[in-house]
Amino acid sequence: MNKILNLLLKNNFQRNDCLISIGGGITGDVSGFASSIYKRGMKFVNVPTTLLAQVDSSIGGKTGVNTAHGKNLIGSFYQPNLVVSDTNFLKTLPKREIICGYAEMLKHSLILKSKNFTFLDKNASKILKMKSPFIEKSIIESCKIKKKIVELDENERNLRKILNFGHTFAHAYETTLNYSKKLNHGEAVLLGITSAINFSLKIKLLSKKDYFMIKNHFTKNNLPNNLNNYFSKKDLQKLVLFMKNDKKNTSNLINLILLKKIGNIKLNLNFTNRKIYDFLKLQLMN
Ligand SMILES: NC(=O)c1ccc[n+]([C@@H]2O[C@H](COP(=O)([O-])OP(=O)(O)OC[C@H]3O[C@@H](n4cnc5c(N)ncnc54)[C@H](O)[C@@H]3O)[C@@H](O)[C@H]2O)c1
Repeated sequence: MNKILNLLLKNNFQRNDCLISIGGGITGDVSGFASSIYKRGMKFVNVPTTLLAQVDSSIGGKTGVNTAHGKNLIGSFYQPNLVVSDTNFLKTLPKREIICGYAEMLKHSLILKSKNFTFLDKNASKILKMKSPFIEKSIIESCKIKKKIVELDENERNLRKILNFGHTFAHAYETTLNYSKKLNHGEAVLLGITSAINFSLKIKLLSKKDYFMIKNHFTKNNLPNNLNNYFSKKDLQKLVLFMKNDKKNTSNLINLILLKKIGNIKLNLNFTNRKIYDFLKLQLMN
């Protein structure tokens, strides 16, 4: 971040100049944030080169940087002047990064309309193998879902929060592991979605039928979903602390975004630290 700003200052870039980001979600988020604060805003073009960045982070104008205190606690809303997505970039992407992008596609498919999940459930193996035209269609569909939500609530007053489905858990998972390569963002999102549906089932918000449809989707497609591969009971305090630091919380309680049924999210449910601690403890025993 400092490097980008120093470079811009040293070369006396003007507001009318354009910063072009070519890279994954991290490059895009950091460059977008730098563009938003440099001389109170310079032009910004994003060329996302990972699946995750093409289906999610390059759209919607959220920019930011991570700190040791938590994920995305410093950032801005700043729309790019242009986004250029080219699937040719994805040819060099490792399988692990494809799964990370798929995580955000899966999230999008669960939050708005059940037919989005039906499409993904039917075509997941072809999408994960990057087969044409499935990969292109799924990227476009995912972008459309995000675009629709962002256009209705750009500054995340309410509706846009549904895009954070699974992310309160996910951000705590990433921060607890210090954003290390042990757990990439997209993998954390998959664990976070698993935790959110487990919690939704536990409080009887989500039906067993919908729960098992999603669970089967994870199993059939070998998507990471076991917390025990990454955490043990000694991490519990840290996990809850980071969930408490989440920016969605407005009180001492932990705010969760949960699933009522496939395609229908329940926002603004708050739970005590104890409830979340006990839930995670149980997950870590299974
Ligand atoms: N702003 C938003 O709305 C939003 C939404 C979702 C996620 N995010 C953020 O996005 C970040 C994750 O993005 P990401 O998954 O793209 O991670 P990333 O930017 O770390 O990229 C993943 C890896 O892929 C490499 N890479 C990039 N393009 C490549 C290509 N074409 N071929 C081969 N390798 C390539 C990168 O060097 C990196 O090692 C997280 O920090 C997350 O918080 C932001």
